[in-house]
Amino acid sequence: MKRTLIHDSATHIGREVRINGWVNATRRMGKMVFTDVRDISGVVQVVFTPENADVLERAQALRPEFVVEVVGMVNQRPEKLVKKDSPTGSLEILAKDLHILAESKTPPFEIIETSKEEPSEEVRYKYRYLDLRRQRKQRMIISRSKAIKFIRDFLHARGFTEVETPILAKSTPEGARDYLVPSRAFPGKFYALPQSPQQYKQLLMVAGLEKYFQIAPCFRDEDARSDRAPDQFYQLDLEMSFTSQDEILALTEELFTALIKELFPQKKIMTSPWPRLTHAEVMEKYGTDKPDLRKNKNDPDELAFCFVVDWPLFEQTKEDGHYAPAHHMFTAPKEADVPLLDSDPFKAKSWQHDVVLNGYEVGGGSIRITNPKIQEKIFELVGISKGDARTQFGHMLEAFEYGVPPHGGIAPGIDRLFMILFGESSVREVVAFPKTADNREIMTGSPSEVADQQLEDLHISTK
Ligand code: AMO
Repeated sequence: MKRTLIHDSATHIGREVRINGWVNATRRMGKMVFTDVRDISGVVQVVFTPENADVLERAQALRPEFVVEVVGMVNQRPEKLVKKDSPTGSLEILAKDLHILAESKTPPFEIIETSKEEPSEEVRYKYRYLDLRRQRKQRMIISRSKAIKFIRDFLHARGFTEVETPILAKSTPEGARDYLVPSRAFPGKFYALPQSPQQYKQLLMVAGLEKYFQIAPCFRDEDARSDRAPDQFYQLDLEMSFTSQDEILALTEELFTALIKELFPQKKIMTSPWPRLTHAEVMEKYGTDKPDLRKNKNDPDELAFCFVVDWPLFEQTKEDGHYAPAHHMFTAPKEADVPLLDSDPFKAKSWQHDVVLNGYEVGGGSIRITNPKIQEKIFELVGISKGDARTQFGHMLEAFEYGVPPHGGIAPGIDRLFMILFGESSVREVVAFPKTADNREIMTGSPSEVADQQLEDLHISTK
């Protein structure tokens, strides 16, 4: 017999079905056993009666989280026993047959969400596969998957091409620390995991792709914060040629407005179109470049987006006295401000744009520099010598000598955005297998030591 999902058993009243799932809870009452069985679609009560004595006998052994297969008749429950809070609450399955497919030890915490205190992060992450068995977490993972599909469909329909860029890439100083991977074939040389696909996406514009996007894994060795993963996170990375800041912002707004309307209909976007505020304005009015524009900060459904534009190109001087870019080194200065690069770089404004939501920076991007002379000037101000610029970024400068289209883009951080949409307290919570705040993955045990031979192959010795 074909399996029926528990949610669909409602369409089989008066007929026999086979269901598969996990035991939520089981109780004996008189000569009968009542077991709630759960699958990805829902929960239903299964009733074992003395009419099927050997099945009832087997049902006595059931314990929470056993995996079962039940064949039985779908019946309507008596009116007074209907559970109104569940779509299958008006049904029960009268068991004809039962197979225990797997037994389970008592889990380290309850899988059915109760009002009891949450287990610690340490315990939940060690048993993340059990944590994810809980309904709220499963819904979050499913919702994330639907949102990613929505984004892909939306962008494909607008002529974007999804391209996977390399994970083993070249180390470039882009802000955070790199995760490095030693090369076996080239002793003493390293790949770096990309902090973002920034350079590749610009090179795809030189390649003539015109509209690129990627659900891009980004790796940054940073200390964890509630809104910052210490290891990896995902960006919706996108780039367009022959575009304008206006077009990039309008597309971003249209995409997320449609996504929220479709997948988070209970959420309310406070102001549409999203306000576009200058950096000077937000700093003066709110004292931060990530203003929280919600009217009622206690309303979990309120979403207040805004764009922050007209950023200064440089934010401060670095320890070595050079200028630190407010965004990154590929962000274009406003054309009228180019002369300021020689006279007063701090005064130069840029084409950077940030998306801010409820006081969090959820995305950043810019119109890019395509003039090699300006790019070289920026490298100089940032403190990268001509020689170093050639070694580190020669590929960009060279590519720009072969017909580079004007281009720009943006990269909303998917995890940070979903943290807010799902009402989670940390970005780590919205990925399937997160690290702890101190960057360990305690379920599989990483980071871990490796065999001496592996180090030998990689020409590495450790202190
Ligand atoms: P930026 O560095 O501003 O831009 O990053 C864009 C967005 O990525 C998210 N983000 C993070 N999310 C979780 N954990 C982290 N450690 C983390 N770091 C960043 C944020 C942020 O707004 N290449 C450029 C984009 C561009 O110019 O197009 C870039 O990476 O939501």
